[in-house]
Amino acid sequence: MTRFLITSALPYINGVKHLGNLVGSMLPADVYARFRRAKGDDTLFICATDEHGTPAELAALEAGQDVAIYCLEQHTIQADIGARFDLSWDFFGRSSSQQNRELTQHFARALWKHGHLEVRATKQVYSHVEKRFLPDRYVIGTCPYCGYDRARGDQCENCTRVLDPTDLIDPRSAVSGSSEIEIRDSAHLFLKQSEFVEQLRVWISSHANDWPNLVLSIARKWLDEGLRDRGITRDLEWGVPVPDDIGDGQLKGKVFYVWFDAPIEYIGATKEWSDARGKSDSEWQRWWRPASPEDVTYFEFMAKDNVPFHTVGFPVTILGSGENWKLVDRVKGFNWLTYYGGKFSTSQKRGVFMDTALELLPTDYWRWYLMANAPENADSSFTWEHFAAVVNKDLADVLGNFVNRVTKFCAARFDGKVPGEGSYGTKETALIAELDRRIAQYEEHLEQVEFRKALAELRAIWVAGNEYLTRAAPWIAIKTDRAKAAVGVRMGLNLVHLFGHLSWPVIPSAARVIHNAIMEAPDIIPWAAGPMARFLDQLGAGQAIRVPDVLFAKITDEQVAEWQARFGGEEAS
Ligand code: 2FM
Ligand code: ZN
Repeated sequence: MTRFLITSALPYINGVKHLGNLVGSMLPADVYARFRRAKGDDTLFICATDEHGTPAELAALEAGQDVAIYCLEQHTIQADIGARFDLSWDFFGRSSSQQNRELTQHFARALWKHGHLEVRATKQVYSHVEKRFLPDRYVIGTCPYCGYDRARGDQCENCTRVLDPTDLIDPRSAVSGSSEIEIRDSAHLFLKQSEFVEQLRVWISSHANDWPNLVLSIARKWLDEGLRDRGITRDLEWGVPVPDDIGDGQLKGKVFYVWFDAPIEYIGATKEWSDARGKSDSEWQRWWRPASPEDVTYFEFMAKDNVPFHTVGFPVTILGSGENWKLVDRVKGFNWLTYYGGKFSTSQKRGVFMDTALELLPTDYWRWYLMANAPENADSSFTWEHFAAVVNKDLADVLGNFVNRVTKFCAARFDGKVPGEGSYGTKETALIAELDRRIAQYEEHLEQVEFRKALAELRAIWVAGNEYLTRAAPWIAIKTDRAKAAVGVRMGLNLVHLFGHLSWPVIPSAARVIHNAIMEAPDIIPWAAGPMARFLDQLGAGQAIRVPDVLFAKITDEQVAEWQARFGGEEAS
């Protein structure tokens, strides 16, 4: 039996992430990891903060903190918010860890040894005021083509032309505004990606049937446009240092580019995990260097802008090392979640970020909405109106109301105990047949990481339960035929139990409350093993149940208005 390795794209260290970041990587990875665990599979779910690079350095500068201290603090904050969102990673590491440093240097040495790296002379912008090199996009000036006066050194946002910092008129530092900048020679290490084009093409084609079109088309576009060799070092202080034995002494004081070391942190964090548990190297290596590649099935989750780095960049590192590291099996990419059709933006205070979201409502409201509307085949837009409508209908009216109706009625009329009278008849048989079919569909969609379809099916399962209850109408039957009412209540309670099982990967906290209404839930609520004829007839007569508090409160129009005012609720222009 294969083991399941699951990674979520690593959130950048600077700042708390917004709902779009959450639904584009961490949350779907969590739902999938929970599904695997529910099925009893040996599963490892890894994530970490992505801590290197200029944005981290500048954020620390702005916070007036030493960058290492800044990263440590931000890591703790993100780990805490993730835990509060019920993100069940087995380990949440840090790309600045010693483990990642060693692994990154290891890969660089292997690539160097095999001749896949080359030192090349480049020209870089140096700022005298800041006493540092500036990445191209931190140099701004006037665009020579359209005259836009805040064009970036890598591209003009106004006319979209790709630029070089030397193209800019009146170039200055975007950080300090200083124009005391100059172009300096600087040697850098390049990874000769172009040598891998054919190998990548064959590998990507081998996944034509199991990667989403979004991922395949992005990966192929990169290959078709001709893979450029990639500079993998930078003139920065914060990062994984280039070891002395690479680059014939020309790379002193340089660090690896953040996109070189970040994916290696998937491995690094796995080693952090096994080190933290006092295990030997074989513990993490069984995930990354399995005896046979089929022993591990590796899933990666990410937003679409990350696809090139995972289908081209990181694979080149792995292939070029000449060592038998595990390559990804399934790449699940997402489109954008927009906020009223525009960007979520920290600086403009547009949209909802993970910390504020939890101040408004518990985690499962967000988890359900986001996964049911995941931007899988196209971008999807968050609006408060839509969010309220989905929550009120699916969670409050359908699921919450069902659990509430059944348990309350049982408490009022059957002394809060599973009634044993009567036997299942045709209504129950029909429901059981429908659920057998729907649960198989739900499971298959989760296997295929098709979340919208999966959640639509889960919702249909809840609806089927509601419709059954309406047909069985135990509150009417009780007036004339107690045994008939008992059958409806018994099936209803069995359904509550079933919903606790099936909902756990998506809305784990609510699922636990639901399950606990019937009986104490285990830590990992296992997949509801069919056939349903057995599962839905397993509660013993006389067993006590509990009526949970209201599971999901409805979102009011006043709340929608208040949140629109607070977070912005206008269509993006
Ligand atoms: O785009 C991002 O948010 C990056 N921090 C993702 C890194 S994923 C990985 F490869 F490390
Ligand atoms: Zn321009």
